[in-house]
Amino acid sequence: MKIPLFLAAAAFGCTASAATPAEWRSKIIYQVLTDRFARADNSTTAGCDASARQYCGGSYQGIINQLDYIQGMGFTAIWISPITYNLEGDTGVGEAYHGYWQQDLYRLNENFGTAEELKALSTALHDRDMYLMVDVVTNHNGWAGNYTTVDYSKFNPFNSQDDYHSYCEITNYDDQDNVEDCWLGDSNVELVDLKTESSTVSSGYNSWIKELVSNYSIDGLRIDTAKHVDKSFWPDFNTAAGVFCTGEVFDGDPAYTCPYQEVLDSVLNYPIYYPLTRTFTSSSGSISDLASEINTVKSTCKDSTLLGTFSENHDVTRFASLTSDLSQARNVMTFTLLHDGVPILYQGQEQHYAGTSDPDNRAAIWLSGYNTSSPLYRLAASVNQIRNHAMYVDADYLTYMNYPIYNDTNTLALRKGYDGMQVITVLSNLGAGGAAYTLNLGSTGWNNGTQVVEVLTCTTLTTASDGTVPVAMQSGLPRVLYPKDKLSESGICGL
Ligand SMILES: *[C@@H]1O[C@H](CO)[C@@H](O)[C@H](O)[C@H]1NC(C)=O
Ligand SMILES: *[C@@H]1O[C@H](CO)[C@@H](O)[C@H](O)[C@H]1NC(C)=O
Ligand SMILES: *[C@@H]1O[C@H](CO)[C@@H](O)[C@H](O)[C@H]1NC(C)=O
Ligand SMILES: *[C@@H]1O[C@H](CO)[C@@H](O)[C@H](O)[C@H]1NC(C)=O
Ligand SMILES: *[C@@H]1O[C@H](CO)[C@@H](O)[C@H](O)[C@H]1NC(C)=O
Ligand SMILES: *[C@@H]1O[C@H](CO)[C@@H](O)[C@H](O)[C@H]1NC(C)=O
Repeated sequence: MKIPLFLAAAAFGCTASAATPAEWRSKIIYQVLTDRFARADNSTTAGCDASARQYCGGSYQGIINQLDYIQGMGFTAIWISPITYNLEGDTGVGEAYHGYWQQDLYRLNENFGTAEELKALSTALHDRDMYLMVDVVTNHNGWAGNYTTVDYSKFNPFNSQDDYHSYCEITNYDDQDNVEDCWLGDSNVELVDLKTESSTVSSGYNSWIKELVSNYSIDGLRIDTAKHVDKSFWPDFNTAAGVFCTGEVFDGDPAYTCPYQEVLDSVLNYPIYYPLTRTFTSSSGSISDLASEINTVKSTCKDSTLLGTFSENHDVTRFASLTSDLSQARNVMTFTLLHDGVPILYQGQEQHYAGTSDPDNRAAIWLSGYNTSSPLYRLAASVNQIRNHAMYVDADYLTYMNYPIYNDTNTLALRKGYDGMQVITVLSNLGAGGAAYTLNLGSTGWNNGTQVVEVLTCTTLTTASDGTVPVAMQSGLPRVLYPKDKLSESGICGL
């Protein structure tokens, strides 16, 4: 596949200057849980009992070894687990294999590898014009034990009790002070809550993140538990980082979540996540709820084309555990990769992993054998290919906001892009048993007599005299349409 020139230029710039939100808008992220993606020995059989919550041996070197697998699907960035030193040993709720129980910001979690190996991963990604996003935590440190046992001198650099809120449990999610000032965790592992409103703490975090980004040539940050930190902390932190930041604001209400985009470059699109998964889990899922949420997020968030769009992650139930239907999984994946914002696929989604909630949604990927023939691996590759192509043909494709052009009880069609260079996605929640029928789709924006290719089946269609496209729907499969004359030399569908 040819490398779009403007992207190559952006990637060259990134060794000298930090990656901006605009550059991230063109990326597609594969989310890696470092301990569970790949081992340095390339094993595809090493045991990993997710329910035991122990380290399973995934590492930076392992990721380097499997970059072909990730890039083979067309991903152009990865997001990895937090890299900092975590509490050691087995708590009543397992080991810190996920990386969210940090204790020392200036040491690495060497279970994942050395500083040199992390730098080698960063270099290996940049050599492929890919970006590195690192997960960071500023809300809390981890402590194995209840609140009475915390030894603050064990933390670095915030080693005084004055740097922390006094203990209280979060009991009321409708009370924002309670959410920001009280502690997450439990008596097995307390998440000792930093006083982020103190200038000592905020300036300590700001100088740390600047160094961290520079030391490891990090291109972007995913920020954990962002809604548990006071909003006034974020603008300076985002500036100090000097790279794109997307925050985890774990809440489906746009009125709650979108305001965090006023203080951070981006947030994860939880408002879309909920209706998205409900819509495609069954043929009775509400298409109109999703259609209306798309428009609500667009009008409520500062810039919906910078949000992180996802349908799975390590904190939520995998889609395949809600429905085993492969057609429904194809629809949810197609939407995720083609909607506005920076698409994020969680490792294992491409192998139809079906773990329920944490810790079962964190099964090791090596056990799949990294099968590049699996149906959803191939779908991700095809869909990412058309996204990467559409933005190459028209750079404005990425800022054009996807909008519903047609919906019925089981079908949703969306248009993103203009001047004939739009991608039209037709989604269905009927599942593999869905009947075959022709959808005469209007409002496509294409002139009569235009040839468009359905790129998942490589079928060429011609718009009718009134501009409608006869889309052959079958077995609840998604369809993706793009004008044929814009596909020349793309390698897509042999063109
Ligand atoms: C693991 O895979 C990588 C990349 O394919 C290869 O270079 C390396 O030699 C392999 N290592 C082992 C221990 O098999
Ligand atoms: C905290 O843990 C210590 C040590 O396990 C125990 O002795 C104490 O009773 C616990 N206190 C509370 C309030 O849970
Ligand atoms: C960055 O590297 C410098 C030089 O090795 C080191 O002193 C500093 O502690 C590092 N900072 C972080 C956050 O890793
Ligand atoms: C289409 O979605 C809109 C919300 O955007 C809703 O008002 C309308 O009822 C839906 N139409 C059908 C046929 O479901
Ligand atoms: C890979 O997936 C394909 C498609 O599902 C399947 O036919 C094949 O057996 C798998 N290969 C391995 C080694 O499991
Ligand atoms: C397309 O529309 C134009 C004007 O609306 C009309 O003159 C022409 O005959 C149409 N072409 C086809 C192929 O229907």
